[in-house]
This record gives sequence, structure tokens and C-alpha cells, in this order.
Amino acid sequence: MRFPLVMAGLAMIACSAVPAGAQLAAGKEKFLGNIVANSVPANFGAYWNQVTPENSSKWGSVESVRGTMNWTALDTAYQYATANGFRFKAHTLVWGSQYPSWITGLTPAEQRAEIEEWMTLLAARYPQIWAVDVVNEPVKTPLPFKNALGGDGATGWDWVITSFQLARQKFPNAKLLINEYGTENDAAARNQMLAIIALLKDRGLIDGIGIQAHAFNLDAMTAAQMRTCLDAYAATGLDLYITELDIRGTGATQTEAAQSAKYQELFPVMWEHGAVKGVTLWGYIVGQTWLANTGIVNADGTERAATTWLKSYLAGSPPPPPPPPPAPPTSPPASGGGGGGGGAPSPGFLGGLALLFVVRRLVGHPARTGGNRAR
Ligand code: XIL
Repeated sequence: MRFPLVMAGLAMIACSAVPAGAQLAAGKEKFLGNIVANSVPANFGAYWNQVTPENSSKWGSVESVRGTMNWTALDTAYQYATANGFRFKAHTLVWGSQYPSWITGLTPAEQRAEIEEWMTLLAARYPQIWAVDVVNEPVKTPLPFKNALGGDGATGWDWVITSFQLARQKFPNAKLLINEYGTENDAAARNQMLAIIALLKDRGLIDGIGIQAHAFNLDAMTAAQMRTCLDAYAATGLDLYITELDIRGTGATQTEAAQSAKYQELFPVMWEHGAVKGVTLWGYIVGQTWLANTGIVNADGTERAATTWLKSYLAGSPPPPPPPPPAPPTSPPASGGGGGGGGAPSPGFLGGLALLFVVRRLVGHPARTGGNRAR
């Protein structure tokens, strides 16, 4: 009975704290996170400052055998995050995928009791959960046993509302998020999500919107399309989170250069959007990502071009300096005829250049200037 607690303690000891300020978004207003699978990669803390478990906080992972909870991998991720002061998100409470297979054989009343018990146990074991994906993919992967939570009901989405009501009771200190994929470039699906979000918002049940942002959508998207998506969700007034970002890049070969180019096109739109409070990548080590060719750091620790760019972008490296003023002529200018040209730049000209430099620094890197603090 006490065994899991002992394991948790050992896991905490094993997770040595990473150097403060080592992560790409350390000290920024927004976080840049990643997933943790069964163990924490040695270089995780060199890059990321938020943790989402890849699979270990899914109900089907924890309770594959009814009544027997396996918290081992989740303990590891949680202890690592909390020991390092990183936000920890639970993913996910209610989802029409990766739920325990035994649940579908129960009556709706039994299912309801099991769902509530799952939430209760998760909340009790991990009091420092910062946010929870309460319902994952309500539009794309609805719950097969949604009748246990009220079914569609009068609102059409009663089961989602019930899920959030339960989550609010069980996780009173966590941010409650809804999470979906494929709405990035699909206005019809996004409008369905916005209808659900409005129902939840009217009832004070939702704190943020998770946009998965997977490669199978983003690879073919433009910056303008991404901005349209974010603006539509931001119109709700809720905080936005990019929750499962991965990018391969366009083109059949999905080269390192294509991946980096697509990162450069889309990442600033997400990072600099005022409503986006943080970005989480869905894996980063080549060969260890859910979608092939989405890794941005090689298994030997060398970095792909997307990471090189991401680091310099987030470091806010200053823009290139303005071109130097024209060199003074080596011989006296010919007087008259044609006018202009040559001579030392006037103080007004130099002042103009200095002003241009300051303005470029301010507008060229908005990620460095203001924005709302991630909560
Ligand atoms: C994926 C994991 O990365 C895989 O290891 C697992 O086999 C399947 O699930 N949307 C989600 C994530 O919300 O939970 C999924 O994670 C990827 C798609």
C-alpha cells in the first residue's frame, strides 16, 4: 500500500534539479514546455520549463486493471516538474480514446462512479497540478460512454458540461482546459468547439483553450491561417495554450530545412499572440516522437536547425545593426553640379539611424516586450 509513495520519494531523489534559468523560456512571460514519457530525458531541463505527461496521466494508462492504479510513470513526471518549479498539466480526464477497456462493460451508473473515483484519486495524489485537460477532443473523439455523464442532453454537450462540473469540484485550484486537434485550419470544427466553450464559459467552468497544433494540420498552414484560428479562440476572452505542437515541414522529404522554415513561419504567430500563455511541444527527440520526423533534437544531443533557430529567436537576439553611414569621401567632393552626395553625415541623419535602430529593436522582437504573464 505504501509502496507507491516510496517509489515517488525515490523518483524525486533521482530527479536532480536542473540549473535555474537554463530553459529556452526561462524568465519569459510565457512557458515553453514538453512531454515526459516514462522517464525524463537528461537534457529536458536544458530546453523546457513545463511538463505534460505523454501517456501516463491518461485513465487507460493508470487504471488498465479496474481498481488497480499504476502511478509509477506519472509520479516520475510530477516529481520532476514540481522539484524544478515547472508547471505540471494532467492530460486528460475524459477522452474517447485511451480509456480503460473494462469501462464499456459497466452500467452508466457504475461508469459515472468510476469516472468520479478516477478524478478524485488523481487530484488527491497530485495536489500541485497546475492545469487539467478536462475533456480531450470532444468534437473529434467523443466519449463512447457519454451517457454516464448526461449524454448530449438539452445543450447538445451535457456530457462535457458535467465533466467540467466534476473537475471543478475535484480540482478547485487547477486551470480547467478543453483540448482539441484539427480545428487549426477547419472553421467548421472550430465553430463546434466555440459553441461548447460558450456553454462552459456561461457556467464559469472553463479557464483556457488547448489547441493541439499537430504536424498533420500545421505543416500545410500559413501564418495567416494560424492567426485566424488564434484570433477566433481569443475572441472568447479565455487564455489559449498550444498544447501538443509538432512540425515536420512541408514537402515530401520533410527535410530539416523545411521543418525549420515552418517553425520560423508559424511559431512566432503562436508565441507572440497576446492570448497565448504558453506553448508545449509534443516530443523533441528524433526517433522518440509520436509522429515521425517531428523531433528537433537528435538522439545524440545535437540540435536540428529548428532548435538552433528557436534558441536564437527566444533569446531575442537583436536584429542586425543598421547599415553604416556612407564613408566620408577620401578626396574633397567636387563642388557644384548634381548636388548631394559625400560629406560627413549630418547629426539629423545619425539621429534618424539611431531612432530606426531603437524602433527595430522594439517592434522586431515583441516576445521580449510585455505580453501577459503565463498563469
Ligand atoms: C499520443 C501519444 O503520444 C502516443 O504515445 C500514444 O500511443 C497515442 O497518444 N492527441 C493527444 C495525445 O491528445 O494524448 C496523443 O498522444 C496524440 C494526439
